[in-house]
Amino acid sequence: MRILKRVTSLQRHLSTIKEESLTIGFIPTMGALHEGHMSLVQQSVKENDITVASVFVNPTQFNQKDDLDKYPRDLAKDAKLLKKNGCDYLFAPLPSQIYPPDLNTNVYIDIVHLTDLMEGPNRPGHFEGVVQVVKRLIDIVEPDKLYMGQKDFQQFTIIQYVIKGLELDVQLRVCPIIREDDGLAMSSRNVRLTEKHREISPIIYKTLLWAKDNILTESITTIETKAVAMLNEAGLKTEYFTIVDGRTLDKVTNVEQHQTVVACTAAWAGEVRLIDNMVLKGEINI
Ligand code: PAJ
Repeated sequence: MRILKRVTSLQRHLSTIKEESLTIGFIPTMGALHEGHMSLVQQSVKENDITVASVFVNPTQFNQKDDLDKYPRDLAKDAKLLKKNGCDYLFAPLPSQIYPPDLNTNVYIDIVHLTDLMEGPNRPGHFEGVVQVVKRLIDIVEPDKLYMGQKDFQQFTIIQYVIKGLELDVQLRVCPIIREDDGLAMSSRNVRLTEKHREISPIIYKTLLWAKDNILTESITTIETKAVAMLNEAGLKTEYFTIVDGRTLDKVTNVEQHQTVVACTAAWAGEVRLIDNMVLKGEINI
């Protein structure tokens, strides 16, 4: 596996690959990689001739400087894991490569209707930053397929909207949530959980399963209210537990009117904010 830090050197390598008409799969990440990220790499290796991953802690998607400074960074460890899983190129640029002062990297597309619920209100500007960096990375790598995780449901939905809206020549592939044996969704943040919070955090998965079991018999309001109570009673502080349409992210009131229905949640386990989701009806179609 080659590790490249400059846009020009990555593009030099990729241009020979493109000349040979080989397909490229791309996985954007912020590092601190785990088995969840690796499932995207494995899927790309299966479906493409060449797999490229990026590790870039994108400053424009953080609304708190402290959060950006504290984000775990260990490039050597990430590189080892990527190599083991069959990745061909690791792109690990400095911010000046992604955001050179003479380049306008703003993306002109309105995503407001997809950001007024769930992660959006609590993290102003976050998704605009995600869109900016993913668009820039797609422009650099020009992959055939882009791999993202269902773990960040709102994120991949917004990226799919941008791909369609801007008619970008890339196919989004969404990979299922990888979980620990007890159901906790894998996340770079899980290592920061205290022993007590790690023990109670699988309640998130249990609550999502409960919501799925009851979606056809209970009202949406009842499910949302009971779910929040279940999470809080276990010792978490729920920020939201919201049931939305899987494509528009609009709030669902009547399940029968929607093809895909998803429950999305964010809850604090002490100092650590955990997010998770589950498709309650239908399936993800992008
Ligand atoms: P990051 O949090 O590093 O996640 C990179 C990708 O891995 C995302 O598509 C995310 O959904 C996926 N992922 C994380 N945990 C997962 C799990 N347990 N199972 C399956 N997939 C999982 O998301 C970002 O980085 C950034 O916002 C980024 C898109 C790279 C833009 O900066």
